[in-house]
Amino acid sequence: MIYKSQKDNYFEIIKISEQLGQIRDVDSLLDRILSEARKITNADAGSIYLKKGDSLSFEYVQNDTLMKNVAGGNKYLYTKQVIPIDDKSIAGYVAAHKTFLRLDDVYNLDKNVPYTFNRNFDKSSSYHTQSVLTVPLITSRDKIIGVMQIINARDEEGNIIPFSKEEETLVTLFANMAASAIERAQMTREIILRMIKIAELRDPEETTLHVQRVAAYSIEIYEQWAQKKKIPSETIKNVKDILRIASMLHDVGKVAISDSILKKKQQLDDDERKIMKLHTIYGAQLFVDSNSDWDDMAAEIALNHHEKWDGTGYPGFFSQNGKDISIPISGKKGTEIPLSARIVSLADVYDALISPRYYKNAWNEENVLAEINDQKGRHFDPEILDAFFEIYPVIKAIKNKYSKD
Ligand SMILES: [Fe+2]
Ligand SMILES: [Fe+2]
Repeated sequence: MIYKSQKDNYFEIIKISEQLGQIRDVDSLLDRILSEARKITNADAGSIYLKKGDSLSFEYVQNDTLMKNVAGGNKYLYTKQVIPIDDKSIAGYVAAHKTFLRLDDVYNLDKNVPYTFNRNFDKSSSYHTQSVLTVPLITSRDKIIGVMQIINARDEEGNIIPFSKEEETLVTLFANMAASAIERAQMTREIILRMIKIAELRDPEETTLHVQRVAAYSIEIYEQWAQKKKIPSETIKNVKDILRIASMLHDVGKVAISDSILKKKQQLDDDERKIMKLHTIYGAQLFVDSNSDWDDMAAEIALNHHEKWDGTGYPGFFSQNGKDISIPISGKKGTEIPLSARIVSLADVYDALISPRYYKNAWNEENVLAEINDQKGRHFDPEILDAFFEIYPVIKAIKNKYSKD
């Protein structure tokens, strides 16, 4: 939507840019940035590539035609695509020259331009890309961190039209402001992943890929569950923003468990198993002294991710006498377990079963799904499990995106 006057437009962009500072997770941020950039131009779709080393990595997409209100449409979010920064592609050209490109019809490009339009996405999704506005994401320190592409501008009747010169100016201005916010959120993400790398030195099971998969499964399961519950979309966005980061930290408490237990190749004995269970409590203790909603959720998940719906998990309502912690025989039950932890527990177990680990091969998919389904109402909350199966194509796309190449 183009606002009444040029002045209104600039004012609106500055207001939105200020709000971007409140978003912590990088994916939530990209989602918001694309929504706003598309709103400025009434565009049907858009995507963001971020610079990773010498290439651009596909990071986020919105597409009203393919994704809005389509179950499983979120699978496009987890497309794995890396393109070189060179003159051959539109996004590559924009990144290489730190310039924008406003193209009226990518299927009819001028013969003299060095770049071509990659038709693969259109072919695989039956989408038709036409007008494309591509702008570089450049921070205030003149560093290029990625490229934003806004696709298929629409008039009031929904017909695809070219982007205007004014829209180009507005989107470029907005992209500059957004770039610094993205850089900040990327730093937060990197610090979290570094914390996980430290934990990984101790426990080779908690790899950065495992936690990224668990985080992505968790937010997608949550979104599906929440939409069915008719939870307002603003709340869904806020929860996703903190759930992704908090779920990555579900097992950081393991840093407090000794190597003799953590790295033991044989089965743990009863006493050792009791100590191992304490990783839930140690993990929660890392976040208790803070009062941000982010830390609250991280603590909640660390503490409760081994609870089971039927009450047979741990640590339950434990008591603490000085330094000694005693874990009761029965765990928390049903909705006594926080929602976030009910979700992460399913995401974590699914990923553990479907991935190879040093002591076992990956299970075959059919067996994993049968096993998980068998735990409906036992280990897992039935509603959460339903949501998981409803978006299974998205789950598979996530598994594929965060895998070793
Ligand atoms: Fe755990
Ligand atoms: Fe895990």
